[in-house]
Amino acid sequence: MADLRISGLHKYYGSVHAVRGVDLEIPAGEFAVLVGQSGCGKSTLLRTIAGLEDADAGTIEIGGHVVNDQPPRNRDIAMVFQNYALYPYMTVYDNIAFGLRARKTPAAEIDAKVKEAARTLAIAHLLERLPRQLSGGQLQRVAIGRAIVRNARLYLFDEPLSNLDAQLRDEMRGEIKRLHQELGKTMIYVTHDQIEAMTMADRIVLLRDGRIEQQGAPLELYERPATRYVAGFLGSPPMNFIDAELAFADSGAQVRVPGGPVLGLPAARAQRLAGRRPGPVVLGLRPEHIARADASALRPGAVRHVATIELVLPTGARSYATFRLGAAAVVAELHAHDVSHPGEQVELAIDMDRAVLIDPDTEQVIP
Ligand SMILES: Nc1ncnc2c1ncn2[C@@H]1O[C@H](COP(=O)(O)OP(=O)(O)OP(=O)(O)O)[C@@H](O)[C@H]1O
Ligand SMILES: [Mg+2]
Repeated sequence: MADLRISGLHKYYGSVHAVRGVDLEIPAGEFAVLVGQSGCGKSTLLRTIAGLEDADAGTIEIGGHVVNDQPPRNRDIAMVFQNYALYPYMTVYDNIAFGLRARKTPAAEIDAKVKEAARTLAIAHLLERLPRQLSGGQLQRVAIGRAIVRNARLYLFDEPLSNLDAQLRDEMRGEIKRLHQELGKTMIYVTHDQIEAMTMADRIVLLRDGRIEQQGAPLELYERPATRYVAGFLGSPPMNFIDAELAFADSGAQVRVPGGPVLGLPAARAQRLAGRRPGPVVLGLRPEHIARADASALRPGAVRHVATIELVLPTGARSYATFRLGAAAVVAELHAHDVSHPGEQVELAIDMDRAVLIDPDTEQVIP
């Protein structure tokens, strides 16, 4: 059963149309991540689900009940905010217990739940401290503890890790994911960080200007983006986009880069393009789909191309190397020792089987 079902949802702030017709279903037990650029409506959508904002149109069902008219406390949700929103003069114990006390839970039950949550989050030794005596990561755990003792149907997180430094953020990502596996609860997590979305989600819901651009499993979106926007949003360094021409020659379908190479498409790809008119196309190449041609056996569909390297950015195991395809600067993700210096000539293999072709007029990926 779906724990959350949203249909035809709209939300306005005066003249700002923040949520523009969202339909969304989150099955029980799923970890869904709402991701998108700043201002795309992630927090608004989450706050509308929580009941902190009223919907202007559409319905929100939680656990099979329409909750549009219900205040937040009746919606069977628990929320973790970006700024933690802890009570500064209460101990960690009292902060975690607060929601349970407000619901008149028996003291013995509160005590057991607070201690259990503290154990799970490794903060059992901090229960008597005040928030100002804690580190950022510890505060974050307390805020999560306060949510998980609630035994709600839906857990909502709004950018809970954005105040933490990079290392702690990585650690907490793992912990929240582990917590989800242990509790098996339905969680909706908001972030603008595409890596966080890829690493944590069962389902990514990619928002753009108040609408869902695409949703699905992380690798589904990564490998089969529906639009140029999705293709460019997921992946770091991002997909390379090259303005080119689609042409059909005797040898088969090919992508011609103006002032650059002619890149033949594998036969199976070419077949799917049958009936399509030749003309402008945007070629999308992920950096990791360009390799040294002599590094290993060539993948079927790989096209050889000799390039002059313009820039090398080593990162350790991998190096990002920039070269030209026609006028476009293209980044390839190579093994560290595949390139050494700018000006070097290397033979590259471009995997045209995994290349993405985009219609420049509609910005839709050509299937
Ligand atoms: N209280 C408000 N009054 C007026 N406009 C608002 C209000 N809250 C949000 N907005 C506008 O609604 C749109 C969506 O905002 P929202 O906070 O949902 O974005 P977001 O995706 O969470 O962004 P961020 O990643 O920066 O947190 C934005 O254009 C924002 O300016
Ligand atoms: Mg926000």
